[in-house]
Amino acid sequence: MNGAMEPAGGEPEEVEGEGSGETGALRPSRRGLLGLLGAGVAGLAVGGAGGAAIAASAAGGQTAAGRSSVVPFHGEHQAGIVTPAQDRLHFAAFNMVSGSSRDDLIQLLRDWSEAAERLTQGRPLGTGLEPGDALLPPDDTGEAEGLQAGNLTLTFGLGRSLFTGSGEGGSEDPYGIRSQLPAAFEPLPSFAFDLLEPAQSGGDLCVQACADDPQVAVHAIRNLARIAVGRTHLAWSQLGFGRTASTSRRQDTPRNLFGFKDGTMNVMSDETEALAEHVWVGDEAPAWLRGGSYIVTRKILMTIEAWDRASLAEQERTFGRTKLAGAPLTGGGEFDHPDFAAERDGAPVIDMAAHVRLAHPDQNGGTRILRRGYNYVDGSNELGQLGAGLFFISFQRDPAAFVRLQRSLKHDLLGEYIRHISSGLWAVPGGVRRGEFVGQRLFD
Ligand code: HEM
Repeated sequence: MNGAMEPAGGEPEEVEGEGSGETGALRPSRRGLLGLLGAGVAGLAVGGAGGAAIAASAAGGQTAAGRSSVVPFHGEHQAGIVTPAQDRLHFAAFNMVSGSSRDDLIQLLRDWSEAAERLTQGRPLGTGLEPGDALLPPDDTGEAEGLQAGNLTLTFGLGRSLFTGSGEGGSEDPYGIRSQLPAAFEPLPSFAFDLLEPAQSGGDLCVQACADDPQVAVHAIRNLARIAVGRTHLAWSQLGFGRTASTSRRQDTPRNLFGFKDGTMNVMSDETEALAEHVWVGDEAPAWLRGGSYIVTRKILMTIEAWDRASLAEQERTFGRTKLAGAPLTGGGEFDHPDFAAERDGAPVIDMAAHVRLAHPDQNGGTRILRRGYNYVDGSNELGQLGAGLFFISFQRDPAAFVRLQRSLKHDLLGEYIRHISSGLWAVPGGVRRGEFVGQRLFD
């Protein structure tokens, strides 16, 4: 695969910047530049929607979809955490092949990092669609050819089982990294509303692919899975649409499938102190994890048919916020602080079991997490009900923060309408420097 990593003809375009979050400067891809040169005049006579996007990007502007396109892979932190949440998700969990070695794991992370750098710049893998030898498969599967980078971010996580073995009679330290296991990296306990499907939970590794274009996200996961063959295999994956959280104040608050604004009180990318306190791992962890985080995923089935029959008053009582404006039931606007002490007719205005009361930092010793989830619909069942819900994703400095919040939600009114059907926890190594691979310091 190494040789196949060279670009098709010439040096790759370099995109400077930190992968720590904000969308980087937009640069046209090599293919885009060639397209423009072929068309003769930038911005003129460029055919099709793709051409228009390229013309816009060459002018330093926005793509046809109105969005800039490239988020740098390298930086102090991995991209895809405080990066303004994109519209689409393809999340994948992988298990290492039995008997794979420390060198296999290192080479896998190296290959994935090289591939991620190219994919996030909107460039095909290797020689793209033309292998040079028609008897070989192309280096890249091709479905993203002609598409923009779409703000693709690829965020990599390492499961606890990589450090301790899978517990199925194999080695307890298959990759020689057990001594690097952080003390905080404990498995998640079981919770109220859990109905977990083991085949859709956990994994030795995870990759979160987020992009504005679903095909770009799927292409990335598909190609990472393809180049990993023989070392790791896809255990389960999940598509998501419609982000359910903002991570930047420049974004509008989106709505979840219950129709409520979601992400209002999230940790935002410009809250530097809150990020340092609640999201980025610090000196308490081994060097490889500093500047990283822990990612928790929970696939939460939402019984939307039952929800849709509930009165507006019941829906608003459940969350403690109004449906239209997303404001606290105690008044004010969306971003005003709820008054948990307020009463009406001797009863609390915000129900004692309302979701925002139970999840609020005031009720949880100041605990905050960065939420970055997506809606999902996996078709429908034999009863004509949608298999729909929230693919909840949160980033936190310590998994104990998630555990505390989820335990707090034990009596959540929302519990009537949801079931957690998949769960995962991975450590997300700190950012990748140019020339390094993800998690490299783990093996130093
Ligand atoms: C299907 C499941 C869920 C739905 C539909 C949902 C929806 C919402 C909504 C609409 C809000 C209010 C707006 C906002 O501040 O974002 C909210 C707040 C919040 N949710 Fe959830 N949520 C779900 C699950 C969870 C889970 C599993 C956790 C963590 C364990 C969680 C943690 C929070 C937190 C921390 C807040 C902010 C509370 C505050 O500071 O006011 N949520 N959620």
